[in-house]
Amino acid sequence: MNNLATDILDSLPDPVLLLDAGRVVTRINPAARAVLGERALGRDLSHSLRHPDALGAVDAVLTGGGYRGVEVALPVPTARAYDLQAVAAPGEEPGALLIMRDVTAVRQNERMRADFVSNVSHELRSPLATLIGFIETLRGPAADDPDARARFLAIMDAEAARMSRLVDDLLSLARVESREHVRPETALELGPLLKGVADALAARSDVPVALDIADGLPPVLGDPDELTQVFENLLDNAIKYGGEDVRLAAAAVARIPDIGLPGACIAVTDSGPGIDEADLPRLTERFYRTDKARSRSLGGTGLGLAIVKHIVNRHRGRLAATSAAGQGSRFTVFLPSAGSPPTP
Ligand SMILES: Nc1ncnc2c1ncn2[C@@H]1O[C@H](COP(=O)(O)OP(=O)(O)OP(=O)(O)O)[C@@H](O)[C@H]1O
Ligand SMILES: [Mg+2]
Repeated sequence: MNNLATDILDSLPDPVLLLDAGRVVTRINPAARAVLGERALGRDLSHSLRHPDALGAVDAVLTGGGYRGVEVALPVPTARAYDLQAVAAPGEEPGALLIMRDVTAVRQNERMRADFVSNVSHELRSPLATLIGFIETLRGPAADDPDARARFLAIMDAEAARMSRLVDDLLSLARVESREHVRPETALELGPLLKGVADALAARSDVPVALDIADGLPPVLGDPDELTQVFENLLDNAIKYGGEDVRLAAAAVARIPDIGLPGACIAVTDSGPGIDEADLPRLTERFYRTDKARSRSLGGTGLGLAIVKHIVNRHRGRLAATSAAGQGSRFTVFLPSAGSPPTP
């Protein structure tokens, strides 16, 4: 192999190996060394790649030429899925070229999409089953019972409202996701927006909301409807699941964690039962609820925090959740100030 070929091989981001007719690794690029280890070179491939399907594909090419493709899951160094392509080595010498393409992210996306469809179907099926059941009852046994009819219609009304909320949330999530790469461009004062959200929620519930907006809150580049949705959901959660000592506090910060830019920090806190540490990182997953039955009975769809996360991402901000079981929860939104340089 000449220098140019070696340079090209070394610069490829995908792992590539060259094997001789006896299946010994004669060339290995850095990407392949990172996956198969430093000791792969000069040894039979089975020392570094212990996967029967992969070895079978290479053997088939070494004995019969041509091309073989196979997908394998490698558990080390971390679990990853690779699409392996074995082809007869170019040039005079017999051998094989093995190209490994990391398809972990693709497979993960596929699984997430499948899970999502199955979750949506499941969430729609239970209210639908209730509606169908009550329609049958109203047509049959309860046809002439006005009391039962009124009771059943109230339940049907609540179930239909839940389905409608779920569809609204799904559309909202799809809309936010589709424009996540476009950062809002309009400068916005957070103070009046936060006050509006807190007033509206306090009017709808018995739980008071304490509002504390510090002076000097910088304007942010924001979409007022989306940011309203963010703080409505966080406050709604604090009222629904926390229920005590609900606060909305906003202040300027000199450096947003991770981002390092100046901006606004808006925290929604409660002193309710809190959230287990194990649940915290999963809260923004679609349909993730720490207590499904409780959230459902309170009318939740489990999409609120997923929508919040996407909106905060679109605003190039950060969302942080901290809590300890029994000690309340704190959800903090950081938004870069309107004057700060653009972040990707
Ligand atoms: N302040 C809080 N205290 C305790 N648990 C919380 C709090 N906020 C959120 N959670 C938990 O996180 C879960 C997810 O919240 P999220 O807002 O995504 O969904 P939801 O409130 O159930 O439904 P939706 O917001 O779509 O109506 C909730 O079901 C609840 O279990
Ligand atoms: Mg919610």
